[in-house]
Amino acid sequence: MNRKNRIAILTGGGDCPGINAVIRAVVKKAILEYGMEVIGVEDGYDGLIHNRHRKLHYDDVSGILTVGGTILGASKISNPYRYAVKAGRRIVFRDVSKKTIRNARALGIDALVCIGGDGTLGIAHRLMRDGIPVVGIPKTIDNDLRGTDVTFGFDTAVAIATEAIDRLHTTAQSHHRIMIVELMGHRAGWIALFAGVAGGGDIILIPEIPYDIKAVAAKVRERNRIGRRFSIVVVAEGAKPKGGDIVVKRMVEKSADPVRLGGVGFVLQDQLEKATGIEARTVVLGHLQRGGSPTATDRVLATQLGSKAVELIVRREYGQMVAVKDGTVTSVSLEVAAGGSRTVPLDHPLIAAARSIGTSFGDR
Ligand code: F6P
Repeated sequence: MNRKNRIAILTGGGDCPGINAVIRAVVKKAILEYGMEVIGVEDGYDGLIHNRHRKLHYDDVSGILTVGGTILGASKISNPYRYAVKAGRRIVFRDVSKKTIRNARALGIDALVCIGGDGTLGIAHRLMRDGIPVVGIPKTIDNDLRGTDVTFGFDTAVAIATEAIDRLHTTAQSHHRIMIVELMGHRAGWIALFAGVAGGGDIILIPEIPYDIKAVAAKVRERNRIGRRFSIVVVAEGAKPKGGDIVVKRMVEKSADPVRLGGVGFVLQDQLEKATGIEARTVVLGHLQRGGSPTATDRVLATQLGSKAVELIVRREYGQMVAVKDGTVTSVSLEVAAGGSRTVPLDHPLIAAARSIGTSFGDR
């Protein structure tokens, strides 16, 4: 590269610990190794649609490695191809991609770095097809992106959830109660599976394995029979009963993202109290799993992925997402990442290991 190159970077979708670490890695490497200019686009694609951006200097990213959230802001609903506009009391969707692409071109950038989950990367893939050179970086606490074995944010979420389960254990034990902890994961149960195993959950309920409430209650009763007068149930927000549906807390009609998930823990609480006669309590961990400082593992992963993303740009390998495959940092086509969620395979070795030590998945 012989002229001063310029790149832009944005963070779409829900935030997660490690985003600032990856922004820092991209900006530092772009400046230090290649003398590039970096533009930070604010609030995901919203900043591209409405021309909100600022130059990112070395000093802007120095000291943010350990900071949660994203210094650029994020938006879960700004999609240039399906942009929500209020029309009276309704929401209608418009295609504002042409304007967005014009804005991106006006920035004079060689590449746009899009950090996000499948939604953000799906849009990135479309922008690429429409002529904007894009490089993707995967992020989500849910760990459910196709094309990469792991995403940063996941390790932190698992650590937070595990600590919560540890704390619930002692109070469950003292009061001889069922404690239910509801974790994030609407389509995939990675967080519940890993935190459930790490925290020694007695019953783990994930979206991939529909549960039978009778089997869950039987496990609690069996524990009682052998003198374990408490039980810990770890449930992903997207877990559903056999033949049943996911629990939706409420629908927000005027929102572009109308479904507010949550509440399966409280449904289980009522059902288990009735079926076992044992008192139950529910804790919904919610956004605590997405907040705060990333773990060392997530900081390392974010740094590796950010550094790799700049390499892809320098080699003009656009349309790619940086990824981890079998422990190696590599890249895959954005199309792969945009192709839907990576759920927990039913033959995942951790499910087998957990079953072998008596953990119930509520299905048998
Ligand atoms: O995808 C990340 C995630 O945290 C999911 O686990 C959860 O269902 C969703 O985002 C919550 O989104 P919001 O921040 O809009 O409530």
